[in-house]
Amino acid sequence: MNAMDFQFLAAFLKERSGLIVTADKEYLIDSRLQPVARKFELKSIEEIISVLRGGRDARLAAAVTEAMTTNESFFFRDKVPFELFQDVMLPTMLDARRARKHLRIWCAAASTGQEPYSLSIILKEMAAKLGGWRTDIIGTDISSAVIEKAKSGIYSQFEVQRGLPVQLMLKYFEQKGDVWQILPEIRSMVQYRLFNLLEDYASLGTFDIVFCRNVLIYFDQPTKKAILERIARTMAPDGYLVLGAAETVVGICDAFQTVPEQRGLYRLRGSDESSGIVRPFAPLRAQGSAPAVTGASATAVVGGLRAATDRLAAIPSIPGR
Ligand SMILES: C[S@@+](CC[C@H](N)C(=O)[O-])C[C@H]1O[C@@H](n2cnc3c(N)ncnc32)[C@H](O)[C@@H]1O
Repeated sequence: MNAMDFQFLAAFLKERSGLIVTADKEYLIDSRLQPVARKFELKSIEEIISVLRGGRDARLAAAVTEAMTTNESFFFRDKVPFELFQDVMLPTMLDARRARKHLRIWCAAASTGQEPYSLSIILKEMAAKLGGWRTDIIGTDISSAVIEKAKSGIYSQFEVQRGLPVQLMLKYFEQKGDVWQILPEIRSMVQYRLFNLLEDYASLGTFDIVFCRNVLIYFDQPTKKAILERIARTMAPDGYLVLGAAETVVGICDAFQTVPEQRGLYRLRGSDESSGIVRPFAPLRAQGSAPAVTGASATAVVGGLRAATDRLAAIPSIPGR
């Protein structure tokens, strides 16, 4: 590919999805766009670029954008965010929302659904504490292909084994030939929607918890900042934001502050600085197939959230806490 074609494609992708491609990633362009060329019966990537330059093929433009996304995901990815969800965010939110009994959760780069379904499984496992509650999980992604797969809830043997303890797999999936489908009761807990993080967020409403993991890494600083600022505006004042292990707000967006001792967890600046006791996510630990989480994240006892947890114990509508 010549330098002008590369520059055109790089600018096109940045404008369409925020993705930054550098010259050393030309091999990626090649491997991802050859199948697109075949599908659209174009002879080469150069021909794709020529059609894109014409600006008249919206389907090709969407296919190129989608093909360049990285959709890697797996159940309970990195474990700690899901422990924090169960042991910090939910107790705090169940306390804060005890009058309204309604929680809205957004997976902002949901990919093939493993992240929102991991949250659904946790909520299902906690059903006894959520009687009378409405919990909405909205999963969005720029790629229609991954959204369709997420909606189907169908995973290969490899995919269901990745991160998912076998007992949870047997409990929440049914085998259909050589694939596994997540049960309708878990599937129906998530609403999926095609959504580009570069677009206007007004139609999404307000969220109590936002998972935006492993997508900001593909963007440059101004794009990260713009997205984080828009996410901040979708969040309830006491809401939580969860980023991926390689992502941070620090030095990028002042709207958020870190939650002390809780890596990857953020709240809006000025919100109550609750923090908490983090234990290994019980269903994972119970299966025995997940290694125990060690270090500060597993044992950190941070005063503020102990108070929140204690307050939660006093809520009569949540038995057994
Ligand atoms: C690596 S996956 C992350 C999946 C999941 N959050 C996780 O951590 O396992 C990144 C996802 O971000 C999506 N994505 C990339 N750019 C996007 C954009 N501008 N708007 C919405 N989604 C985007 C990709 O399609 C991809 O499915």
